Amino acid sequence: MVRTADPTGDSMSRFQQTRRGFLQGTLAGVAASPLVLNGDWLRAQAPSKMVNVGFIGVGNQGMNLLNKVLQYNLANVVAVCDVNEGSFGYREPSHFYGREPAKKIVDEHFGKLQGKTDWKGCQATALFEEVLENPNVDAVIVVVPDHWHAVISTMAAKAGKAVYCEKPLSLTVADGQEMVDAAHKYKTIFQTGSHERSNPISKFVCDKVLAGAIGKVTRVETTIGHNNKPTPGPGWKPQPVPATFDYERWLGPAQEEPYHPERCLYRFRFIYDYSGGQITNFGAHCNDIAQWGLGRDLSGPVEYECTRAVFPEAGSLFNTALESTVKVRYADGLELTCTSGKPVVQTRFEGEDGWLQTGYGGTTASRKELLEGLPNTKGQMDATSLHLKNFFDTIKGEDKLHAPVEIGHSSATMCHLMNIAIRRFPETPSKVLKWDANAVKFTNDDNANALLSRPRREPWTVA
Ligand SMILES: NC(=O)c1ccc[n+]([C@@H]2O[C@H](COP(=O)([O-])OP(=O)(O)OC[C@H]3O[C@@H](n4cnc5c(N)ncnc54)[C@H](O)[C@@H]3O)[C@@H](O)[C@H]2O)c1
Repeated sequence: MVRTADPTGDSMSRFQQTRRGFLQGTLAGVAASPLVLNGDWLRAQAPSKMVNVGFIGVGNQGMNLLNKVLQYNLANVVAVCDVNEGSFGYREPSHFYGREPAKKIVDEHFGKLQGKTDWKGCQATALFEEVLENPNVDAVIVVVPDHWHAVISTMAAKAGKAVYCEKPLSLTVADGQEMVDAAHKYKTIFQTGSHERSNPISKFVCDKVLAGAIGKVTRVETTIGHNNKPTPGPGWKPQPVPATFDYERWLGPAQEEPYHPERCLYRFRFIYDYSGGQITNFGAHCNDIAQWGLGRDLSGPVEYECTRAVFPEAGSLFNTALESTVKVRYADGLELTCTSGKPVVQTRFEGEDGWLQTGYGGTTASRKELLEGLPNTKGQMDATSLHLKNFFDTIKGEDKLHAPVEIGHSSATMCHLMNIAIRRFPETPSKVLKWDANAVKFTNDDNANALLSRPRREPWTVA
């Protein structure tokens, strides 16, 4: 389905050379700029051991990742970027996020390390291009809505930055291929934010299944949560754009639409223009674990059949499926079913000799010996922090990526194709869509093929 490369090979040495270039050649030029003072100071503390990172998107998950980087001292944070200056309105009412709150956290953190209460060294901007132009930024963490992933990540790769882009990797199959191509072209260290790949428990389960502990796998079941926010119903009214929010930039490559706060922060995941609903949100975890445990990374199912899909009332702001069931089949006949339910992320492997399941509800098995050796992660670094560490360690040449862009693209593709089956359900219920991975298209549904890519608005047509 995707072309492969060793993303930790050539790219590392190129990165190290580039970085040495920054250290030796460019600091004199940039030292006068207030934007990079933080980077200069931090680099002086540990010139060979710390990566300078910029965050693009500091909302719900961006803040989470930022706090983990600071908590475990994983990298120097030298820049934060968000089109929102700062506001409530994120996943929970109490969350106040955006670039100014993020800058405050970073300045206070590094100020404290220097014993300076008035430290203001972190670059804060609404324009991600300014982060990409900052020579002191070695790597970017892209935590924006999915409709921006491909454009920003591709431009970051072109700018010579290492990239950590959140899951689901892409908005469409075509976007994902563009990201893989860019990573290859620019020899980018490119991690997908599928942190389960760094979760010792998920690894334990997948290793067991791969080693044949449950015998030949006979079927797989994955579970995704329901939509967890209510939609504004038919007749919803556009609202004025807050002065602190650059809505035009938030829309970016997506089509022009009137502003409503429920369109944007966190809720974007329930609107097809910006994301894919829970099948790509949670599905990017549980279906990715399925692929991993089956040893089918970089491959995927050949048939997609949606047997149930429930959508919000026509005219609602949200339009992604509220609930769905999708069956997929691999070329050898193995079936995987992805169903809405609880826990919100779960992968269950059934074999001829037992079953094993893991996810947000815990890890259980058909017999207790299957769980012997299950890692005790209490008090240990959490999976997300381990995943970030794996990214920074790879940049430093000390590790290999756990979720390189090719894997992210392969798992995201599977979720996108499931979603296309869901979207086709009202018109052609339970039709089996036949996927040709080499041709990158369905062989029996042109309307489904039309959903493999999405037009982008100017000027974002070319990343
Ligand atoms: N790994 C995980 O488990 C996990 C968990 C949550 C979210 N995510 C992923 O993280 C991404 C963001 O989700 P979220 O829940 O944080 O959303 P969010 O809306 O809370 O945060 C996104 C932020 O990006 C900003 N933004 C939008 N366009 C921008 C641009 N062009 N430049 C700079 N900033 C921009 C928004 O203003 C917002 O503050 C999604 O892809 C989501 O799937 C992953």
